[in-house]
Amino acid sequence: MYLTLKHIHVTAVALSFALFALRGVWMLRDSARLQRRWVRIVPHVVDTVLLAAGVSLAVLLRQVPGESAWLTAKLIALALYIGLGSVALKRGRTRGIRAAAWLAALAVFGYIVAVALTKDPLPWTGV
Ligand code: HEM
Repeated sequence: MYLTLKHIHVTAVALSFALFALRGVWMLRDSARLQRRWVRIVPHVVDTVLLAAGVSLAVLLRQVPGESAWLTAKLIALALYIGLGSVALKRGRTRGIRAAAWLAALAVFGYIVAVALTKDPLPWTGV
C-alpha cells in the first residue's frame, strides 16, 4: 500500500515536472498549444494526484508538518512553487517576468525533490 502510493507520488512528480517545463517552453514561444484543452486540464489532474498521494504518505508515516522539518520545508517550498508557477504561466505581465518566474519555479521544484530524497530541509549540507 505504502509503496504503491509512493510510486504514484513519484510518477506524478515526474509528470508534473515534465508538463510544467513544457508549458514554460510554450509560454516563452507564445505557442497556441498552451491553450489546448488537454493542456489546461491534465496538469491539474496530475498535480491533484501528486498532492493527494503526498498527503496520504505523510499520514501513513505519521509525519506532521511542524514536527517534521523536511515536510514543513517541502510544504513551504510547494506554496512558493505554486505561486511562481502561476506568475510564470498566467499572471506575469512581461515575458521577462514570466521567464524568470519559470526558472525560479524549476529551481524550487529541484529543491523539493532534494528535500524529499534527503529528508533534510538543507539538502546541500549533505548531513
Ligand atoms: C511539487 C511537490 C512535490 C515533489 C516534487 C515531491 C517529491 C517527492 C519525491 C521525489 C519523493 C520520493 C523520495 C524517495 O524516493 O525517497 C517524495 C516522497 C514523499 N513525499 Fe513528496 N513531493 C511533493 C509534494 C509532497 C507533499 C505535498 C507531501 C505531503 C503533504 C509530500 C509527502 C511525501 C512523503 C511523506 C514522501 C515519502 C517519503 C519516504 O517514503 O521516504 N510530498 N516526494
